Amino acid sequence: MGFVIAKALVPFLLSLLCFTVFSEKAESLPAQAPHHRGSYHHYPTAAPMSAPPSHAPSQAPTPHHHHHHRGHAPAPAPVHTPAHAPVHPPKPPMPPPVPAHFPRKLIAVQGVVYCKSCNYSGVDTLLGAKPVLGATVKLQCNNTKKPQDVKTTTDKNGYFLIKAPGTITNYGVHRCKVWLVSSPSTACSKITNLHGGLTGAILRPEKKPFVDEKKREFALFSVGPFAFESKCPR
Ligand SMILES: *[C@@H]1O[C@H](CO)[C@@H](O)[C@H](O)[C@H]1NC(C)=O
Ligand SMILES: *[C@@H]1O[C@H](CO)[C@@H](O)[C@H](O)[C@H]1NC(C)=O
Repeated sequence: MGFVIAKALVPFLLSLLCFTVFSEKAESLPAQAPHHRGSYHHYPTAAPMSAPPSHAPSQAPTPHHHHHHRGHAPAPAPVHTPAHAPVHPPKPPMPPPVPAHFPRKLIAVQGVVYCKSCNYSGVDTLLGAKPVLGATVKLQCNNTKKPQDVKTTTDKNGYFLIKAPGTITNYGVHRCKVWLVSSPSTACSKITNLHGGLTGAILRPEKKPFVDEKKREFALFSVGPFAFESKCPR
């Protein structure tokens, strides 16, 4: 009886599961569904790396088997096909994971800020441009009633990385944009709209996540490169 219920639970549980754990879990589901059911809620948002220790399906040895094991042991042909056999082969093509099934992740945005060569005022090029140290950039997200802003400044390579507030996840990233805000030097301070630095840049997803010093994993996005413009001194 319990097994029938467990079986009925399988599709439901699978739908809850992150795609990556499917194959591992499907093996042990029928026998251990009641145990696992509780633990699914505890999985962290990151893909779980450690499988439960009790992974090997224990074939309960019967007295008959015992005798066979001592000598030459031909694999005993199962008389009863286990009722749960059909569950074992993993369903071949799972559809690609839809966004709704991705785990929620914190987000971080990176980019680089340049000072354009004075020779290219008004031209969208970074030929001869130099990275800017101390440029201010702003990430703004409109996921809540009040827009949430986070600002940061660039390092000597013109590079910046902004961690969005914890309330923003990859689910709401389309409500975020990044702006170039201000320059540390008056000589090169005109904000250009290169890659949306002036009007707000849309975040482009990166393949690899960003992991911070606390080992937290962020979905990483990129913007820019952004640029200020300078005028050639006469
Ligand atoms: C701008 O162009 C002039 C003449 O081509 C060149 O001498 C100068 O080095 C250039 N300046 C920069 C910052 O690239
Ligand atoms: C957030 O909303 C404000 C006002 O409605 C708007 O000016 C701003 O561009 C929005 N920001 C983003 C990231 O969409």
